[in-house]
Amino acid sequence: MCGIVAYIGKRQASPILLDGLRRLEYRGYDSAGIALWTDGGIDVYRKAGRIENLRKAVSEANPPGDLGISHTRWATHGAPTDENAHPHKDQSGNLALVHNGVIENYISIKDQLLAEGHTFQSETDTEVLAHLVGKCYDEGEETEPQAKLVAAVQAALPRVKGTFGIAVIHSDAPGVIVGSRLGSPLVVGLGKDEHFLASDVGAIVAHTRDVIYLNDYDLVTITRHGYDVSSLDTNRTASVKVSRVDFTEDDAEKGKFEHYMLKEIYEQPQSIRNALRGRLSRDEATAVLGGLNMSPMELRQIDRIIFSGCGTAYHAAMVGEYLMESLARIPTEIEFASEFRYRNVPTTKSTLQFVVSQSGETIDTLAALREAKRKGLRCLGIVNNVASTIARESDGGVYIHAGPEIGVAATKTFTSQVTIMTLLSLLFGRIHHLSSTDGLEMIDELEAIPEKIESILKQAPRIKEIAQKYANAEGMLFMGRQLNYPVAMEGALKMKEISYIYASGHPSAELKHGIIALVKPDLPSVFIAPDDAVFDKNVSNIEEVKARKGPVIAVTTEGCTDLERIADDVLYVPPCKSILSPLLTVVPLQLLSYYVALARGCDVDKPRNLAKSVTVE
Ligand code: F6R
Repeated sequence: MCGIVAYIGKRQASPILLDGLRRLEYRGYDSAGIALWTDGGIDVYRKAGRIENLRKAVSEANPPGDLGISHTRWATHGAPTDENAHPHKDQSGNLALVHNGVIENYISIKDQLLAEGHTFQSETDTEVLAHLVGKCYDEGEETEPQAKLVAAVQAALPRVKGTFGIAVIHSDAPGVIVGSRLGSPLVVGLGKDEHFLASDVGAIVAHTRDVIYLNDYDLVTITRHGYDVSSLDTNRTASVKVSRVDFTEDDAEKGKFEHYMLKEIYEQPQSIRNALRGRLSRDEATAVLGGLNMSPMELRQIDRIIFSGCGTAYHAAMVGEYLMESLARIPTEIEFASEFRYRNVPTTKSTLQFVVSQSGETIDTLAALREAKRKGLRCLGIVNNVASTIARESDGGVYIHAGPEIGVAATKTFTSQVTIMTLLSLLFGRIHHLSSTDGLEMIDELEAIPEKIESILKQAPRIKEIAQKYANAEGMLFMGRQLNYPVAMEGALKMKEISYIYASGHPSAELKHGIIALVKPDLPSVFIAPDDAVFDKNVSNIEEVKARKGPVIAVTTEGCTDLERIADDVLYVPPCKSILSPLLTVVPLQLLSYYVALARGCDVDKPRNLAKSVTVE
C-alpha cells in the first residue's frame, strides 16, 4: 500500500520519478506528490487523484533537479486531498519525507510537538514523522549536513510505533537521500552514477536490474556515486546482498492488452507452465519441491496442515484444503490470516503451516507467519514475490513464478497458487496413499491444463456478450459445490471488486437455507457445475432458481449439453479430472467480471478504494 520512488543521479529527476510512480500506481492511487531538491531549497508538487493529475502539474513546470523523492498514496489517516498527499515537510520547511505504513503513536507525538509550537498542514501521521525527524535534525550535533540527516533519522525512528518505509531529503544536504524500513518494503537500485529507492523493483527496473532488498531496521543512504546500509538497531549488523531482478521492464507493461487484468488472465497458460516447470518427476510419479527444505521422513510425519492467506489467496487455500484431504488424506484447515493471528488454533507437534500470498507483503499474512513461528510451527510460504518479507521470513516454501501481477484484481496468481497446492497434495499423497499410477495420471492431467485454458480464452467474445447482457444487474450470486465452492467465492470477489456489483459466493446446497430469498428476475445466479459427481445436485439447484424466475449463467463441461435447456446462458470448459476443475472453471468467471466491469465503465486495473498490496491492518 502506497508507493515510494526516490532518485539521485545526473539526470533530471522528475520524469524518472513520475514514470516510477506510474508503475507503482497499483499500490495506491488516491493522491501523489514529488519533492525535488533545487538550488533554492526543496520544491514540492502534490495532487489529489490519479498520478496523471500530478504529471500534468509537474510537466508544465518542468522543474530541474537531479535529486527527488516521490509517493503515490492509499489513504489511511486523512482524506485523499492535496494537503494530505506526500511528501510532507517539517516545521522549518527544509526537510521533506515520504512514508509507507502507519505511525500508531502519532497522536501523542503530535501533541508534544504542538505544545512545542509546531503547526501542521495535514491530518496525516506522516507529517508528524516529518516534523519529528526535522526536530531531531535541528537539535542535532553540529556536523556536516549529510551525517546530521542520518543521525536525525536514527534518533527519530526509535521513538515511533508502527510500520514504515521512508525516504527523506534536506535542503542543506543536496547530495543524499536517507531511507529506512520496518514492516514496509524498500529496495535500493544500483546504477552507474545514479541510485534509486523504491517500494517495489517494478518502479526502477527500466533503469537497473541490480538491487538490494532492505531488511527491517536497515538504514540506507544513497548518493550519486554510492550507497551505505547500516542498522537502526545498534545491536544488529545490516547484511547487504546485491540481487539481480529476473524480469524486465516489458514484463511489467500491458503490451497489446487494454488492461493489465486482461493481460494477466491471458498469461495463465504460461504462468501455470512456469509453476510446473522442473517440479514433476515422471520416474517417481510425484512432485519435486526442494524449496520446502524437508526430507521425505519429515514430510511423512506431518499430521496436520494449516493454510492461511487473505482474499484471493485464501480462496486458493480453500481449494488446497480439498486437494490435500482428497489426495493425501491429511487433516487440513484454512484460516483467514487476519483471524489466525488472533485465534489460538490448536496444533499438534507435527503441524505444518503454509502462508499464501502473491505480494509476500500482506501485513495480516505476515503476522500469521510470525505467530506460527512464535508457536514453534514450521511455516512455509507459497509466494510470488521472491524478495518479499514473507519469502524471507518463512522456513522455506514454493515460489509460484507467475511474474509481476499489476492488475489490482488477482487472476493468474490464483491459478498458480492452486497449481502449487496441487503439487503439494501430489507430493504428500505419494508419501501416503496415492499409487504411482494415480500419481502419473495427475501429472498427465496437470500438464494438459495450460492448453485447456488456451481453449477457454478463445471464448472471450461470447463471454463479453453475456457480460453485456447482465452488466446492469443489481447483484449476483455465485454457486458451486466441493472444489468449485471456492471458485464461486473467487468469482464473486472478482465481480465485486472491479464492477462494484454486490456479489456473494456460496455452496450450491446452501441456496435453500436462506439465499434463495434473494432470487428474482434481475438478480442473475452463476452456477459452476462441471460434469462431475455432484452435477445432478447442481442441476436441481439450478431448477430451483429457474422456478423462481432467476436468470442463470452456467459454467459446465464441453459435451455436457443438459444445461442448455435450463440455464439462460452456458459457458463451457474442456473436460479434466474433476479435482483439477478449479483451474479451468475460474477462467470464464475472471473474463465475465472483466467484461461486466468494462461494460459498466469501471477502471478495471484500479478499482476504487483498493490497493494491490495490503500492508496495513
Ligand atoms: C483480490 C485480491 C486480494 C488479494 C489479497 C491478498 O483480487 O487481489 O484479495 O488476494 O489482498 O494479497 P496477497 O496475495 O498479496 O497476500
